[in-house]
Amino acid sequence: MLSNLALLLASGTLAIACDELPIASWSYDGPPPFQYQTASWDPKVFHKLGGFSPWFPSTGVYGVPGYPGQVPDGCSVDQVQVYMRHAEREASGGTARGIAALVKKLANSTFQSSDPNIQYLQTWNYSYPAEYLSPLGYSDATAAGVAFQHAYSPLLGASFYFNNTGPKIPIRSTDQERVNATANAFAAGMMGFNYSAFSNWLVTPDSSTTFNSTLASNNCPAVNTIDSTANGIFNSYFQPLVRDRLAPLMPGFNLTTNDVGSLMNACPFDSFNRLSPSPICSIFTPEEWLGYNYAYDLNQFDNAGYGGPIGTAWGVGWVAEMIARLNDSAVIPVGSVNTTLDSNPATFPLNSSVYLDFTHDTSLESSLTAMGLFKADYNGNVTLDQIDPNRAWQSALISPMGGRLFVERLQCQSTGNQSTYPFVRMLLNSAVVPLYTLTECNHSWGANQGLCELPLFLESQTFALNGANFSNCYNNYTNVPL
Ligand SMILES: *[C@@H]1O[C@H](CO)[C@@H](O)[C@H](O)[C@H]1NC(C)=O
Ligand SMILES: *[C@@H]1O[C@H](CO)[C@@H](O)[C@H](O)[C@H]1NC(C)=O
Ligand SMILES: *[C@@H]1O[C@H](CO)[C@@H](O)[C@H](O)[C@H]1NC(C)=O
Ligand SMILES: *[C@@H]1O[C@H](CO)[C@@H](O)[C@H](O)[C@H]1NC(C)=O
Ligand SMILES: *[C@@H]1O[C@H](CO)[C@@H](O)[C@H](O)[C@H]1NC(C)=O
Ligand SMILES: *[C@@H]1O[C@H](CO)[C@@H](O)[C@H](O)[C@H]1NC(C)=O
Ligand SMILES: *[C@@H]1O[C@H](CO)[C@@H](O)[C@H](O)[C@H]1NC(C)=O
Ligand SMILES: *[C@@H]1O[C@H](CO)[C@@H](O)[C@H](O)[C@H]1NC(C)=O
Ligand SMILES: *[C@@H]1O[C@H](CO)[C@@H](O)[C@H](O)[C@H]1NC(C)=O
Ligand SMILES: *[C@@H]1O[C@H](CO)[C@@H](O)[C@H](O)[C@H]1NC(C)=O
Ligand SMILES: *[C@@H]1O[C@H](CO)[C@@H](O)[C@H](O)[C@H]1NC(C)=O
Ligand SMILES: *[C@@H]1O[C@H](CO)[C@@H](O)[C@H](O)[C@H]1NC(C)=O
Repeated sequence: MLSNLALLLASGTLAIACDELPIASWSYDGPPPFQYQTASWDPKVFHKLGGFSPWFPSTGVYGVPGYPGQVPDGCSVDQVQVYMRHAEREASGGTARGIAALVKKLANSTFQSSDPNIQYLQTWNYSYPAEYLSPLGYSDATAAGVAFQHAYSPLLGASFYFNNTGPKIPIRSTDQERVNATANAFAAGMMGFNYSAFSNWLVTPDSSTTFNSTLASNNCPAVNTIDSTANGIFNSYFQPLVRDRLAPLMPGFNLTTNDVGSLMNACPFDSFNRLSPSPICSIFTPEEWLGYNYAYDLNQFDNAGYGGPIGTAWGVGWVAEMIARLNDSAVIPVGSVNTTLDSNPATFPLNSSVYLDFTHDTSLESSLTAMGLFKADYNGNVTLDQIDPNRAWQSALISPMGGRLFVERLQCQSTGNQSTYPFVRMLLNSAVVPLYTLTECNHSWGANQGLCELPLFLESQTFALNGANFSNCYNNYTNVPL
């Protein structure tokens, strides 16, 4: 249950262990034991499924160059906040309905294909319940908890693991099955199966439009008026290209662009359930997956990124809470903050060294947008060869299934001086977030290692602390092109 380190810490050999274990060189949130990114999972495809991508540690454009997750010399972490999207789930909403309709249509047809991957569709059935956390999701979330414990257990101390008398970890989750199941699996991975004895839970409504929640994104009425035109423009170019290539390979089946969309959506979900890559994924070319990934991004970019009027609004409440914990000060009430919950230490404590929050992709993406990170500008009127593979704002990198942001407060010692100063550093899916892209943080000591002095970070968050255009949530954007 607990890793060797926890057992060592618990067994009273702590002093010796700390001297001998290379704690500073551990990679925070390193590859978890259940990671399924094995040779049989082709990362070329599975890293390009937008927010339907299975979790993988990000690299490249999201990492500070040359600095993987180790704590910089002279610094130690004294607080960490986790904001984690639920792990791999079943298809939901319109995606699930589209796949179900396609299965029916395929079953009602007697086409024969010479393509071995398409032949899979001749007998394919898919009848999983929508929305739930999948078995893969359980193991991903548990592995994430194990990796977290491995990285941050020095923060908790021996008594935390040895008996139940230590401070309890505050965990916030929602009443939606996939979110709460992720929270429970993570907690079990981190603390072992007696985790309820080690934690205090606050579970709030997920899908209420009237209950202010910073873990769910239903407090912005304008969303019902927004439709991503960029996504529509791109798909009206992209999906016919794919249909025209595949239709001749499926003689006797009237393949539509809707079917193409549903078939591409089926790749991740069929794979999650098979616990191995679905042959459906191999029906499409790598270039087609680039297009799929881009279409997904356009939709989320207009919704929770820089492309639309409410991209900063959904997630700003959580940013205000994150700042309150970093700064040990009252929550500035913006966005979807619930002031009743956040002014009560029983429901919003400020004295813990670890905080665990479980959420959705839109909230996670929007919080990063509200902070001003991963700024970008794209549109839907591009051809496949014009898509920038290194674009700054990508759902697959920000919030794949199980996407996770770790916000660390560090104390760093200045050279030749015993004083320590507070810093902020963030890891998103294991990659150090380039906080230096925020003007104020660019001036910080350690900026090139992803560090930002806490006072400079707070200065950089003026827009968020003023509400990040939350008032846009009360406008009507019907027929406004995005
Ligand atoms: C099944 O096929 C028949 C004959 O082609 C058609 O009339 C019917 O609408 C189809 N049903 C579905 C669910 O596609
Ligand atoms: C798929 O499987 C489900 C559950 O076993 C069954 O109810 C359904 O009829 C099957 N659908 C097709 C198209 O075979
Ligand atoms: C349990 O934890 C408390 C508080 O840290 C500590 O004082 C005590 O020694 C621990 N009990 C045992 C049996 O280790
Ligand atoms: C969520 O999980 C917590 C901790 O196990 C549990 O106490 C609570 O009842 C669960 N809530 C829902 C709605 O499932
Ligand atoms: C689990 O926690 C409970 C409540 O604190 C405690 O009584 C029990 O001994 C613990 N069980 C184990 C196996 O640690
Ligand atoms: C805020 O939280 C309290 C306590 O759970 C709840 O009673 C109240 O309805 C919530 N208010 C809003 C506006 O969400
Ligand atoms: C193929 O599907 C399209 C869209 O549903 C429909 O308009 C068209 O009539 C169908 N063609 C045939 C040959 O069934
Ligand atoms: C941070 O804390 C200080 C001291 O309590 C307070 O004066 C300041 O307003 C806080 N800043 C923010 C952004 O909450
Ligand atoms: C809930 O959020 C709205 C919108 O920001 C705000 O006006 C209201 O005061 C909040 N209610 C509570 C209890 O925090
Ligand atoms: C934080 O304060 C609460 C009571 O206000 C207490 O129960 C809890 O143990 C404290 N946590 C820490 C880490 O000190
Ligand atoms: C897309 O771009 C082309 C050339 O850049 C332009 O002619 C066309 O009007 C644009 N279409 C839309 C829908 O914006
Ligand atoms: C937004 O405006 C459109 C007309 O432009 C109207 O049909 C729709 O009901 C309005 N939606 C809301 C939520 O007010």
